[in-house]
Amino acid sequence: MIFGVPKESEPGETRIAMVPDTVKGLAKKGHSVLIQSGAGESAFIPDKEFEAAGAKIVADAAAVFAGADCILKVQPPNPAELERLRANQGLISFLWHLRNPDLVRQLAKAKVTSFSMDAIPRITRAQSMDALSSMSTISGYKAVLLAAQLLPKFFPMLTTAAGTVRPAQGLILGAGVAGLQAIATARRLGAVVEAFDARPVVKEQVLSLGATFVELGEKGEPGSSQDKYGYAKEASEELLAKQRALIHERVKLADFVITTAQIPGRPAPLLVTKAMVQDMKPGSVIVDLAGETGGNCELTKANETIVQHRVTITAPTNLPATMPLDSSRMYARNLATLIAELVSEKGFTFDWNNEVFRETCITNAGEIKKGEKK
Ligand code: NAI
Repeated sequence: MIFGVPKESEPGETRIAMVPDTVKGLAKKGHSVLIQSGAGESAFIPDKEFEAAGAKIVADAAAVFAGADCILKVQPPNPAELERLRANQGLISFLWHLRNPDLVRQLAKAKVTSFSMDAIPRITRAQSMDALSSMSTISGYKAVLLAAQLLPKFFPMLTTAAGTVRPAQGLILGAGVAGLQAIATARRLGAVVEAFDARPVVKEQVLSLGATFVELGEKGEPGSSQDKYGYAKEASEELLAKQRALIHERVKLADFVITTAQIPGRPAPLLVTKAMVQDMKPGSVIVDLAGETGGNCELTKANETIVQHRVTITAPTNLPATMPLDSSRMYARNLATLIAELVSEKGFTFDWNNEVFRETCITNAGEIKKGEKK
């Protein structure tokens, strides 16, 4: 199969869907890879490294789309890229199919065989393909570094000739992949950390990272249940109100709050209200990783850093793009493992009995397989 990698067109996107190592891996399996000239520059990978790995460098995006059987991207296609896709051509990228019904309809109309990286099932076998997890790892790590940079005080406890400095107190809301990485990173920097999640099953993992688990109710009453893939289900308004009351008490003590709570395909749950921000310590920091889906904090403005009630609130929506070298490597490895699952020497397997194929395929032969069917 001929895979094509255009330069990412989304403003601020620095990642690339393939790296030289994964190009080599595909070549070993008899596939070839076309790379748009300069596509790796923003991830610090020059054309010559791709060429040395066996890729063919082509002049522009038009040549990539014209020559490839399957396009590999990070971001969903923009209108110009959609125009270039043709019937029976493959596309693998993040599509965010649950919140992009128009895009899904257009891909179906164009008879593109599309797969979404955000639809990988959360099963053990698919862990090595799970780009949501690898990108969340980066976001959780980087969110803590941002908080440390914005905080007008130290993270670790210090005993100095000028007196003892108390460690920063952190609160992590949502202890999924990003939240757990945030806990680990904040602990490494010496902060004292507590965490809350709607899924009580994460308590053990939170404790094992040296943080305290904040619990609802006297007996650690479960926040909300989780679905078959381990995701949180949307909580009732009553439960959310209980969660907010609990969080209100904890944010008053925090120097920094990192929020990562998400419900797949739904707006992010509102966990930190304006009233809570007003009650936070002056100089404290909120890093909201849910800005893309509305934010976990009521005052969040996606992709902006604002100061409200003497609290700095920042909500970067693409932290993986701030570390393009590792994020491209991780994404490309996830993608290459997925390709091995979806493709044989003859092309896509169309093995609908394979859970990974079935769950990730969004459109095929004019049909919408997943997401909005209207
Ligand atoms: P996510 O990004 O969708 O959500 C982040 C966190 O927010 C989750 O832990 C969720 O429970 C929490 N959350 C949702 N609503 C909340 C609320 N109202 N209050 C507080 N917290 C709330 O989830 P993520 O991190 O992508 O994955 C969730 C879980 O899926 C992982 O922790 C893991 O258990 C499982 N997983 C399994 C994999 C596998 O087996 N292949 C791979 C990756 C994750």
